Amino acid sequence: MNPAVSDFRAPADWAPDSWQRRVALQQPHYDDADELAAAGAHLAQLPPLVTSWEVLALKQALAEAQQGGRFLLQGGDCAESFADCTSPVISNRLKVLLQMSLVLVHGLKKPVLRVGRFAGQYAKPRSADHETRDGVCLPSFRGDLVNGPEFTAAARRPDPQRMIRAHAHSALTMNFVRALIDGGFADLHHPEYWDLAWVEHSPLAAEYRQMVAAIGDSLRFMETLAGPIAGFSKVDFFTSHEALLLHYEQALTRQVPRHPGWFNLSTHFPWIGMRTAALDGAHVEYFRGIRNPVAVKVGPSVTPDQLLPLIDALNPDDEPGRLTLIHRMGHAQIAQALPPLLEAVRREGRRVLWVADPMHGNTESTSNGYKTRRFKNIRGELEQAFDIHAAAGTRLGGVHLELTGEDVTECVGGARGLTEADLARAYKSMVDPRLNYEQSLELAMLIVRKSVNGHG
Ligand code: PEP
Ligand code: CO
Repeated sequence: MNPAVSDFRAPADWAPDSWQRRVALQQPHYDDADELAAAGAHLAQLPPLVTSWEVLALKQALAEAQQGGRFLLQGGDCAESFADCTSPVISNRLKVLLQMSLVLVHGLKKPVLRVGRFAGQYAKPRSADHETRDGVCLPSFRGDLVNGPEFTAAARRPDPQRMIRAHAHSALTMNFVRALIDGGFADLHHPEYWDLAWVEHSPLAAEYRQMVAAIGDSLRFMETLAGPIAGFSKVDFFTSHEALLLHYEQALTRQVPRHPGWFNLSTHFPWIGMRTAALDGAHVEYFRGIRNPVAVKVGPSVTPDQLLPLIDALNPDDEPGRLTLIHRMGHAQIAQALPPLLEAVRREGRRVLWVADPMHGNTESTSNGYKTRRFKNIRGELEQAFDIHAAAGTRLGGVHLELTGEDVTECVGGARGLTEADLARAYKSMVDPRLNYEQSLELAMLIVRKSVNGHG
């Protein structure tokens, strides 16, 4: 079955707003229903951010990844912010993702499917609805899509107009990404455009340069034989975000002229976060009716008895490319938590793409009050993931990472040996700690070593 021609239609009892009949976790409490309705109606009139044919092309590519023909690289900020919707932040993030994909293509010898956590990653789940400081209790910050991070009553009030601003910032981001790619930003003939000044200091710079030179040589060799290869100057880039705020997602859920069914056109590839993946919850209800490829985060407490019904709900026809499972277990738990899930899905013969998120199970707080992740734990979870899949006879088809192209100090360790004391220097994340540029490239190289040689 080709996903592009599948006759998937929404179930008869589904509608873009049928999620409202279920319990929706992690939603803000808007205090003015009319204001919310007006913002939703406005948003529903605005143009979409992506198109149905792009969404179906991605589903086809994910189907190929399920077969082992592609490797998924999904990455970006934990939370985008309106303030970071700037040229350097967007272009540096795109650069690091492209450079990582170059490392992966070269090492894995297969096409890499690039998906950004951007152009819509503006909503965050929180462990508490409220935050109290010095006796003052205010709603928690839930991402720029919902409210502001400043600790004032005005900033923390959930404001439906932010959905319009988030849509606009996503469109600005998307427009710049598309323009950079169309303009040859990713041109393999000019790898020098890809260099960021401070790669100079990286212990991996020599290895990286050697690889870029090897790719240039192969390209020149091919072109000597076959003439100019136009396709090499362009790359595909898809977008993804956690589809958490369902009023926003609903307003961008559309029907289009030539493809049946409903598409979420706020992003190519929405995912359900770990905290909102209950089978009878509003998020699963919303997701089951859209035609996009979808992903679900799977944490260490999920049992096979919970996972199999979720797969049935989200992909009842076992459509290729439709469902990705992103496991995020933690380095200390993956060896115990993952094998039963792999075994159950394999036994039932269900078609999924398995992807590893080695970030979210490895978050910890330092003694000096920072939220961080240790590079060795991120690497440890990823390496175990490859081994566990190999032992189970399943395939790890991709990685999901929180990273930035900026030179931040948020995760400790890596080739440069960042310490806890370094965290104060350039800690910028609004929510979770991200790999910086060097740590991201190092991880891409380690993925290649691990998956090609079976050891790190
Ligand atoms: C995230 O991806 O930023 C996130 C909140 O992840 P999870 O749902 O896996 O905790
Ligand atoms: Co995060």
